[in-house]
Amino acid sequence: MTDRVGKTVPRHVAIIMDGNGRWAQQRGLPRVAGHRAGAEAVRRTLQAAADNGVEVLTLYAFSSENWRRSAEEISDLTALMRFYLERELKTLEKEGVRLKLIGDYSAFGADLVGRLERALERTANNTRLTLVVALNYGSQSEIAAAARELAVKVASGELEPDSIDEQAISGELQTRDLPGLDLLIRTSGEVRLSNFLLWQAAYAELLFLDVLWPDFDEQAFAGALDQFAARQRRYGGR
Ligand code: FPP
Repeated sequence: MTDRVGKTVPRHVAIIMDGNGRWAQQRGLPRVAGHRAGAEAVRRTLQAAADNGVEVLTLYAFSSENWRRSAEEISDLTALMRFYLERELKTLEKEGVRLKLIGDYSAFGADLVGRLERALERTANNTRLTLVVALNYGSQSEIAAAARELAVKVASGELEPDSIDEQAISGELQTRDLPGLDLLIRTSGEVRLSNFLLWQAAYAELLFLDVLWPDFDEQAFAGALDQFAARQRRYGGR
């Protein structure tokens, strides 16, 4: 898609939201303050994505490796997600945002799971933008689950081993109903994928930004879209 000035807009943008802890540390604040400020950045980014005509925004909110953090930090993060869902569900509905979850969110306990499922139901028919939140997500385990599904189909005679190709694997991933990933952003200067969307990132543009996640805003998002458009234009010229 192109925007009003003819710039190529990515359909699907994913973000590894990194740097909340360092943001808090720089201010002499507890880590939870960084996560709270990070949640505000989520709000701004969602609005910016919708305003710019992005169709899908995928956010890495909690990786399967994040369970290694302290019990206190895990409880702060889940409390924050509960609070955010409570406060923002009306906004999601009003702005036409459909929520989708990837990862095994059943691990989060009955209260949060109930709230997440209510939010999924209440936003299921919205079409302006899909917000995909990765919760207890790990890409290698997602790919392993896809392999198991295909193996079951082969064992039952539903599928020939020879017909296992890229599409067959993509079709078993939790992102199977989404457009391909166009742009993957990581904030805070770290240059790693950290087990996020490894298969889906095969042809994505990768953008590593120095900004810490709580400082990410509309300008930073617009800048990322500009860099994406510039790369696309270069490819077009070759
Ligand atoms: C990385 O910063 C961030 C996280 C592990 C959590 C992301 C969570 C949020 C932004 C809050 C709420 C999310 C939603 C969807 C409402 P870090 O703690 O790894 O930072 P550091 O590397 O500087 O320590």
